[in-house]
Amino acid sequence: MSHHLPEILSKFSGFLRAGQIILQHAHHKVKGTAFHSDHEFFKESYEAWGDAFDGISERLIGLYGNNSYQPEEILTDTQKLIEAIDLSADPNALYDIQLVLEQGLCDIVESICRATECTEGTKQLVGDEANKSEIRIYKVKQRCGKL
Ligand SMILES: [Fe+2]
Repeated sequence: MSHHLPEILSKFSGFLRAGQIILQHAHHKVKGTAFHSDHEFFKESYEAWGDAFDGISERLIGLYGNNSYQPEEILTDTQKLIEAIDLSADPNALYDIQLVLEQGLCDIVESICRATECTEGTKQLVGDEANKSEIRIYKVKQRCGKL
């Protein structure tokens, strides 16, 4: 792993923003018999991803200064991720996308915690996001009968 922590945190920030937008689209587009609970769950999810985006971006700036936060890069990464995803209105397809996003979040957290310069505080911050993500993974898998 050749990436340094500020670069990984910046990528994480962009990924969280992209995930937030995708999950908010899911909140808007989902249809079906479980509409009310699906609509609500996607709302909780996109709000959680938005909060995570805010917290990680602030940590990045707090540790490495204003110049470490590159909104243009974040927007580019966000656009690429959104373009790569086909958003239908089918709840199961949307939940499959969420599982990929949640697993991506957990994977990035692993790489952040492995970075030698990662502080205990930052490990806790990102670990808390992975913990919340694993709870959402459980809920999605239960919802979709994948457990
Ligand atoms: Fe809404």
